[in-house]
Amino acid sequence: MTDSHGRPAAAPVVSLREITDENRAAVEALAVTDEQDYFVATVTQSLKDAEDYPDAKPWYRAVYADDKPVGFVMISDGITVDDPTYVGPYYLWRLLIDHRFQGRGYGTATLDLIVEHVRTHPDARTFLVSHVVGPGSPVTFYQQYGFALTGEVHDGEPILELDLYPA
Ligand SMILES: CC(C)(COP(=O)(O)OP(=O)(O)OC[C@H]1O[C@@H](n2cnc3c(N)ncnc32)[C@H](O)[C@@H]1OP(=O)(O)O)[C@@H](O)C(=O)NCCC(=O)NCCS
Repeated sequence: MTDSHGRPAAAPVVSLREITDENRAAVEALAVTDEQDYFVATVTQSLKDAEDYPDAKPWYRAVYADDKPVGFVMISDGITVDDPTYVGPYYLWRLLIDHRFQGRGYGTATLDLIVEHVRTHPDARTFLVSHVVGPGSPVTFYQQYGFALTGEVHDGEPILELDLYPA
């Protein structure tokens, strides 16, 4: 891509922003492809889950590329209850990049920002994710980032783990 002077355009800056009354509708309108619906819940459902499961310590943000909302991320940010229905204590609960903006590095940049956030917790050593199995599953995306399958399965979803402080 080039700018108005024909020079290579600077890559958009990816940031995480709070969801407010100003941006809520735009963030809830973000969507994956019909085929990818199988792998992730909608933003609206995720916000409802965040309200319904406070023990899962939901922490969520809109993903922005410069000033444009392009995705949504929600993590379990330090679960303290001993409840086998949850994966944690630090768990990537939801991640989606709108279908129009996929394949531009925004998912990877979001993981970078989330890992930076999780590392601010002194007790956090690993970060977990699980994935729905099936063609088009995001497992390769996570493995390319550095997550490794643990061999454990939660609710039919294989769990992957990222070492936050690799030697
Ligand atoms: C998975 C997702 C978040 C990745 O975001 P993205 O912005 O498209 O990813 P990036 O552009 O940072 O891609 C990084 C690498 O992962 C690969 N990748 C991205 N999505 C992938 C997928 N679904 N399966 C396999 N590889 C994938 C890319 O090809 C790229 O590889 P490369 O560096 O060799 O080119 C996005 O595709 C998405 O929202 N998918 C639908 C919802 C979903 O599955 N969410 C995860 C729920 S657990």
